[in-house]
Amino acid sequence: MISVDRLIGEFDRALRAVAGVARSSRPSPGEGVPESELGAEERAQAAALMRVNHVGEVCAQALYQGQSLTARNEEAKRALLKAADEEEEHLAWSADRIRELGGRLSLLNPVWYAGSFAIGVAAGALGDKWNLAFLAETERQVEEHLSGHLEALPAEDQRTRSVVEAMRADEAKHRNTAIQLGAAELPSAIKLAMRFASKVMTSVAYRI
Ligand SMILES: [Fe+2]
Ligand SMILES: [Fe+2]
Repeated sequence: MISVDRLIGEFDRALRAVAGVARSSRPSPGEGVPESELGAEERAQAAALMRVNHVGEVCAQALYQGQSLTARNEEAKRALLKAADEEEEHLAWSADRIRELGGRLSLLNPVWYAGSFAIGVAAGALGDKWNLAFLAETERQVEEHLSGHLEALPAEDQRTRSVVEAMRADEAKHRNTAIQLGAAELPSAIKLAMRFASKVMTSVAYRI
C-alpha cells in the first residue's frame, strides 16, 4: 500500500522536474570547466541539444517514479529510487546548463512527464523482471543518444560536454545495476517501439 506521505513526496518531485527546479547534491560536472567562446548559432545548438537531454531526464524521473511505485522487490525498488535520485541530478545539471546557454526548457514537460509516468506504472505492473528489463533498455538507448549528442555538440563547448559525459557514465551504471538485479531481455519489437517513441520525443523537444 502506498502511503499519503509517499504520494505527496512523489508529487513534489514531479512538480520540480516539470518546472526545472530539480535539486542536486553533486555539483554539476561543468562547474569547474571554463566557458568557451561560442558563436550565437553554436550556443543555440548546444541549448537545443541540452533541452532534449533535459526532456530525457524528465521522462527518466517519471518512468522511475512510476516503476518504483509498482515494483515488488525491495532491492529493485531501492535501485530504482537511487537511479531516480541521480536522474534528478541530471535534471538539475541540464536545466542549469540550458539557462547558462540562454536557452529554455521544453514547453511540453508536463506532457512528457505524464506519458512516461504512465509507461513506468505499466512496466512496474508487469513484474520486476520486465520492469528492470525496461529500465536497462531505456538506459542503453539514452547512452547511445548521449553519445550522438557528444558528436553533435560544438567541439569547443567543454562545459556542456562534461555534463553530458558524466550523465552518460551514470546511465551506464544504471543499466548495469538493472542487469545485475535480473533484468530480462526485451523482445525486439518493444525495443523498436521504444526507439520510435524516443525519436518522436527528441525531434519535438529539439524545437518545442
Ligand atoms: Fe539521466
Ligand atoms: Fe539513468
